[in-house]
Parts: sequence; C-alpha cells; structure tokens
Amino acid sequence: MKCRKCGAKAAIHMPQHRLALCKEHFLEWVPEQTERFIRKYNMFRREERILVAVSGGKDSLSLWDILWRLGYQADGLYIALGIDEGIRYSAESQRLTEQFAAERGLKLHIVDVERETGFPIPVLARKTMRGQGKPCAVCGLVKRHEMNRIARDLGYDVLATGHNLDDEVAVLFGNTLNWSVEYLLRQGPVLPEEPGLARKVKPLCRFYEREMTAYALLRGIEYIYEECPFAVGSTSIAYKELLNRLENERPGAKLSFYLSFLEARQRGLFREPQEVRQALHLCPSCGQPTSAPGLCSFCRLVSRVKSSPSQTITIPNLENR
Ligand code: AMP
Ligand code: FES
Ligand code: ZN
Ligand code: ZN
Repeated sequence: MKCRKCGAKAAIHMPQHRLALCKEHFLEWVPEQTERFIRKYNMFRREERILVAVSGGKDSLSLWDILWRLGYQADGLYIALGIDEGIRYSAESQRLTEQFAAERGLKLHIVDVERETGFPIPVLARKTMRGQGKPCAVCGLVKRHEMNRIARDLGYDVLATGHNLDDEVAVLFGNTLNWSVEYLLRQGPVLPEEPGLARKVKPLCRFYEREMTAYALLRGIEYIYEECPFAVGSTSIAYKELLNRLENERPGAKLSFYLSFLEARQRGLFREPQEVRQALHLCPSCGQPTSAPGLCSFCRLVSRVKSSPSQTITIPNLENR
C-alpha cells in the first residue's frame, strides 16, 4: 500500500476514508483534519484560552500535542484520582502527563481528589455506595465537576476532552438502545456554555481510536497503555467490541452512524422534554447547575463523606473485578 500524497510506503491504511498515508503525511493529516473539525463545529477561536483535560492516555495527550502544534493556547488539567492499587494507574499516568508537559514547556494544572474531598476515588466510592458496584459513576461525577470548576475558576473559555469516535459511538449506541432523548440531545462535538458550566468540546470526535493510537505512536508520545483497572468488563467496552465487529464487515459504519446522528439532531429529530428545560437550579455551594434545588450531587457527596464518622475502609480487591 502506498501513500496517496507521495507514493512512499504507507504507514497507515484507513479503509473507512479510502486513504493510505506515510508517516510524515499522516502526522500532517491529523492536525489538518482537527483544525477542519474545530472550524466546522465552531469549537473555539484562535484567541480563546483552552483547558485540555489530560488523563495520560493516548487520546488526550495527542489532543494536547495537536493543539500545541496548531498554535492554540492550550493548558492542561490532570485530575489525580488516586487509583493506585495494583498497577499504580494514577501515579503512572500523572508521571507521563507531567513528563509530556515538561518536554514541551506547557502549563499543567493538577487537582488531587483526595485533597479536595478527603479520599481517593476507590475509597470515596466505597464509602458512598456501601461497597456495591464499581467506582466509575462516582469517578465520572467527580471528574466532570472538577474539570468544570477549574475551567471556570481559572477563566478558560473552553474545556477540551480527548473523546475519540469509538468513545462517542459507544455512548451513542447505548443512548440509542435506551432512547435516552435528554442524553442524545446533549451529545455532540460541542456542548455550549450555560450558567455555571464551561463550554465543552471534543476535537477528536471524528477520529477512529486506531488513528489516535497510530498518531501517538508515530509522534513518539509516551502514554499509559493500561486502561483504568475498573473499566474491565464495562458496558462501553462491550459496545466497542460489538461496533468493531460491525466496522470490520462494513468499513466506515461507525463514522456514518455518528455523522448521521449529528445530522438528524440538527434537523430537529430530538426535542427536549419540557420538564428538563425548566429544571435549572444552581448549587448554593459551588454554583454549578443541578436538576433540583439544593446542593449538587458532588457537594452532597463531599458533605456526606466529610460528616461520616471515621472508620476502617476496605479497598476493593481489584483481582476479582
Ligand atoms: P474517559 O472517560 O476515561 O474515557 O476519558 C475521557 C476524557 O476525559 C479523556 O480523553 C480526557 O480528556 C478526560 N479525562 C479522563 N480522565 C482524566 C483525568 N484523570 N484527568 C483529566 N482529564 C481526564
Ligand atoms: Fe474513573 Fe476508572 S477512570 S473509575
Ligand atoms: Zn507520503
Ligand atoms: Zn455543588
């Protein structure tokens, strides 16, 4: 297979785009495409300040690298979750993120969940869910809240995450199976700013996961290969496997599912239920929106764990998950 641009040996073949490129042209193509998506979906302008949420994984580090190469003003935010039993997932991802920022002279903010709430994520989840289930829901809630808090408090115009097409399509698939109209309405490359909430963008939402892996490897970005240990067996991984089988049979199926959804939504296929639109309250403690009057879920969680009597907490045994 030969590079479409120069005829040299291709480093990647992307049947879904009927395109093969050599290393050099692929590393040019990715930022060019990203710039095209940033403009197409009106994500942000040159003069705006961007906060990139970086997990230490290939997608968010690549996103930061791409925005830096494109000349955007992009600082990083790493949330230290304290998931460190077994493989030291958080410690290692923080090390790689700090290394990435230092190599490029980029500014990185670090938020430590244990310092903010009193406990690392596994303990926080254990305390609030009485040991049932995985910490992913609590973790998602804390991450969303903290990303938004830092973006707002430090005056960033926009918060960017590294979600790729495979992530977006897996979520879309789940929301479609359940016909969750409220979620379908809010899913997309841009979530506009609202009172108490920063604008959120996903500049990589049209890149296949495979393309992002290739980008990170070809750019020599050192990232954490392991998934979060709690992700094992998650529904989203099962959906991704299912969708990969579909993609193998029909190259381009994932992209077309996503793009057709965006088009249908733009044509007004989904309408916001009246009661959702009216239900905007601001949390009296942190100022972020809530669905009911009173403290938001994050502030309720923190006040509950801070007021609970100290006790011995057993860390979940990761091997059994
Ligand atoms: P995930 O929910 O783990 O698939 O991550 C989705 C996106 O959220 C990543 O691409 C990052 O932009 C962001 N993210 C995930 N974990 C962290 C973290 N610990 N700190 C900062 N950003 C994160
Ligand atoms: Fe939060 Fe896995 S990253 S539980
Ligand atoms: Zn080439
Ligand atoms: Zn709150």
